[in-house]
Amino acid sequence: MVKVLITDKVDQSLVEMLKKNGFEVDYRPGIKTDELLKIIGDYDAIVVRSRTKITREIIEAGKRLKLIARAGVGLDNIDLTAAREKGIEVVNAPEGPTESVAELTIGLMIAAARRVVELNMKLRQGEWVKDYGIELFGKNLFIIGFGRIGRRVAELASSLGMNIYVYDVVDVTTYAEKLGAKVVKSLEHGLSIADVVTLHVPLTKDTYHMINFDTIKMFKKGAILINTARGAVVDCEAVLWGLENGILYAYAADVLENEPPKTTCEQRLIQHPRTIITPHIGAQTREAQRRIALIVAEKIINFFKSSAER
Ligand code: 3PG
Repeated sequence: MVKVLITDKVDQSLVEMLKKNGFEVDYRPGIKTDELLKIIGDYDAIVVRSRTKITREIIEAGKRLKLIARAGVGLDNIDLTAAREKGIEVVNAPEGPTESVAELTIGLMIAAARRVVELNMKLRQGEWVKDYGIELFGKNLFIIGFGRIGRRVAELASSLGMNIYVYDVVDVTTYAEKLGAKVVKSLEHGLSIADVVTLHVPLTKDTYHMINFDTIKMFKKGAILINTARGAVVDCEAVLWGLENGILYAYAADVLENEPPKTTCEQRLIQHPRTIITPHIGAQTREAQRRIALIVAEKIINFFKSSAER
């Protein structure tokens, strides 16, 4: 019997589908690394979300491991080189949370522009402050990373009347034309014209701290920065500096470099009046989790079916 270990909270349909197809499933959401290291040797497959870090050490301890399934999109928590060296297959569900993350991105954009959290906090403290916000209509939105989520954000933001500019390391001209977006040739140019910048890139060694002290200085004064990608795509210190030096009007993010937060900078960012930070809830909707569960279950079932046929 194929043994599958699930180490993070997933939609129950994933567990049910696997069991129905003859898999033995151990559901251990929240398991700690040292415990995982002790038991991983018993399993043929592991299912994780971003909380579980699949390091080289874990991969090496996984003597029977044939498949790592990421119930979600980002693979930055998995040592892909170590997996490849061991011949372990890695699958994910990139199409699962597109709608949910795109909707949260637009929600954060509106909340940041209208200072919803800041003014709501004041009201909770008894202060009726009727301060100005800004409209998104007619403003320039710069989307960095034009994959599934970036493109859906473009569609939603166009309907708000925003002008869409995009940047990607691959050629996205066809998608951009279809969505009425303009491709900018350099990050610098995009940052200099944007009223709102939104990040939709994976975390890689090339995107690590992409927003840093150099790039933050390229922003148009008073811009809003949105990050529903990965915390480490921005340098926390540079964002704080941008907020405190009149560059950023607001920073709204669903992600932090350390989750849960660890550094003083992250604490300061969370407490800052002009930030909105949520606890990585982009894919945390019933619909997205259900979609992800079905995609991942199917990939696991097909993988073991075709390995048995080989
Ligand atoms: C993803 O990469 O799928 C999203 O960031 C969601 O991550 P999560 O499954 O850990 O919530």
